[in-house]
Amino acid sequence: MDSTADCLSVNASNCRRRGLELVNVLVVYDSAYGNTEKIAKAITHTVNQSDDIRLALVGDIKPTALKAIDLLIVGSPTQNGKPTQSIHDYLNDLPSDALAGIKVAAFDTRYAIDEHGVSMKLFMKKVGFAAPRIAASLRAKGGDLVTEPVGFIVGEKEGPLRDEEFKRASTWIQEITKTL
Ligand SMILES: Cc1cc2nc3c(=O)[nH]c(=O)nc-3n(C[C@H](O)[C@H](O)[C@H](O)COP(=O)(O)O)c2cc1C
Repeated sequence: MDSTADCLSVNASNCRRRGLELVNVLVVYDSAYGNTEKIAKAITHTVNQSDDIRLALVGDIKPTALKAIDLLIVGSPTQNGKPTQSIHDYLNDLPSDALAGIKVAAFDTRYAIDEHGVSMKLFMKKVGFAAPRIAASLRAKGGDLVTEPVGFIVGEKEGPLRDEEFKRASTWIQEITKTL
């Protein structure tokens, strides 16, 4: 079987190793009000159609989901400086070497720090944001972090996302896929 035929029928990571364009991407996310989901969907829609990309709400993810994955992206709302409990549990429950050989990236949604009063600014600076914590967990499980964790800005707790965040999300994933 030649490599092109192989790529049409066999797993995507096999294709990537053959120097072709196809990669296998999994986006795992959580979302309380739908904003993180919108970013996860924007990322998914941006990725080249020849890539095999799957979107999964964290509660729906199966342990076998990491099989043949080249790139795992995890996104969460920032809640009190952290990812949601479901994202925390998902990452915590991964075996210690589960992400060995897998590229990883992290994003969150969050408030803009400069749009808040002094006490809230201090709180936000003190507690931090979800994405760096997700990135640290991904690395701790053996993942190869391909880019700095990133945050996308919501105006209020329920959103909406700033208009420009969809373009930022699209650019972010395009830059990542160039490195694969
Ligand atoms: C309980 C709670 C705590 C939050 N804490 C923070 C925080 O520490 N820093 C921040 O930037 N945003 C915080 N937010 C705002 C969330 O980041 C925002 O609701 C989220 O980005 C919306 O995404 P979602 O629609 O996917 O849930 C908090 C929101 C909630 C509900």
